[in-house]
Amino acid sequence: MKITIIGTGYVGLVTGACLAELGNDVFCLDLDAKKIDLLNSGGIPIHEPGLEEVVARNRAAGRLTFSTDVEAAAHHGVLQFIAVGTPPDEDGSADLQYVLAAARGIGRHMKEYKVIVDKSTVPVGTAEKVRAAIQAELDLRATYATFSVASNPEFLKEGAAVEDFMRPDRIVIGVDATPEGERARDLLRSLYAPFNRNRERTYWMDVRSAEFTKYAANAMLATRISFMNELANLADKVGVDIEAVRRGVGSDPRIGYSFLYAGCGYGGSCFPKDVQALERTARHHDQELLILRAVEAVNDRQKHILGNKIVKRFGNDLAGRHFAIWGLAFKPNTDDMREASARVLLADLLSRGATVAVYDPVAMAEAQRVLQLDLTSAQLANIRYAENPSDALVDADALVIVTEWKAFRSPDFELIKKRLKQPVIFDGRNLYEPDTMFDAGIEYHGIGRSL
Ligand code: UGA
Repeated sequence: MKITIIGTGYVGLVTGACLAELGNDVFCLDLDAKKIDLLNSGGIPIHEPGLEEVVARNRAAGRLTFSTDVEAAAHHGVLQFIAVGTPPDEDGSADLQYVLAAARGIGRHMKEYKVIVDKSTVPVGTAEKVRAAIQAELDLRATYATFSVASNPEFLKEGAAVEDFMRPDRIVIGVDATPEGERARDLLRSLYAPFNRNRERTYWMDVRSAEFTKYAANAMLATRISFMNELANLADKVGVDIEAVRRGVGSDPRIGYSFLYAGCGYGGSCFPKDVQALERTARHHDQELLILRAVEAVNDRQKHILGNKIVKRFGNDLAGRHFAIWGLAFKPNTDDMREASARVLLADLLSRGATVAVYDPVAMAEAQRVLQLDLTSAQLANIRYAENPSDALVDADALVIVTEWKAFRSPDFELIKKRLKQPVIFDGRNLYEPDTMFDAGIEYHGIGRSL
């Protein structure tokens, strides 16, 4: 099938590459000429396991094209996926300017029936705005063409996006109950048929419900995390192990184990943004989502948890103190630093006069870029970018773990003890067992594990 993907960001690129992998003829459009040049010369703008190979294979097979040509993109696919960014605007609502610009680009050139598929995370009612934007362009050209706007939100996790796309647990699609909508349903059904062979994974619904489902899913997951973080903070006070509680609670099939890990807060481009956008949608409709307001507040506070524990242990003035930081990205297997807890921790430590040595397996360059925005030049001068995890440890007063990279899970604790000035670990992701740390002679501060 001929498909156009508008936007070669994280969602667009993964979607385009994976749809090409299934044998489709995919045309990826982006207005950023530098990004298109990079992709056309075999480069990849993001770090995502497996993606580079899928892109290379399908480019070589001629099934995956990258271009800045809006007109060619509009003509190429009968399915036109909009996968551009929806950053928060000043009040936290999703900014739809890129989505609507993409819609106008299609409307300016289309001649025949198209299905416009919103893949970007967009608030309820966006499909109607997309439809209006396209219709306005058709009217300007006095052109008649039928089209349908469908909603197909993505549920990819960064760091596992290719895998998530190729093995989806569900595919949510909203289409209109109109003849054009029926046609859209048929096209999307055959596009996704390879995923439904063994079991039907597609949930068909109306467009508004599909748009809402995406926000509801992310808000639910963020709620679970903030809820566990709040319990973990109480667990610390009352001598309870939150990890034992997690297992006890998760064994209830009504609750389940996933997304119950307490830690130093959630980050990334999705949870913080989507929780805020859903709150704003509610406010526009004179409703307040009290739970989500708390989810956000708890998370903002949780990002200071490591800094607070360090201050409690070493005092408020950290001048002369030096810390080793393992992990900078907001989660493993990505170099994404958006809303990463490490940014808050570094600001907390550096503003109190500490120096740090940081290490992340892939996010070092991205960290250097974003930290320029967060910190003063005096603070930046107090960061050393270490060569490897053990290099970061040298002469530090404590090791602080922020991201749960696999490489940090079974370190050589004797080496850690040897390199650190004193054997202290602050573990923002509960990677180690307090008992093992005690036996190893390491002072261990987890999240909700102060037994
Ligand atoms: C999230 C959702 O999980 C995806 O389903 C969704 O498609 C995506 O947002 C999106 O909207 O695009 P992502 O942001 O890539 O995916 O990352 P997650 O794996 O969900 O992790 C988000 C944050 O929550 C990370 O900072 C992680 O450390 C934290 N987290 C996760 C916890 O603190 N505890 C947990 O138990 C799980």
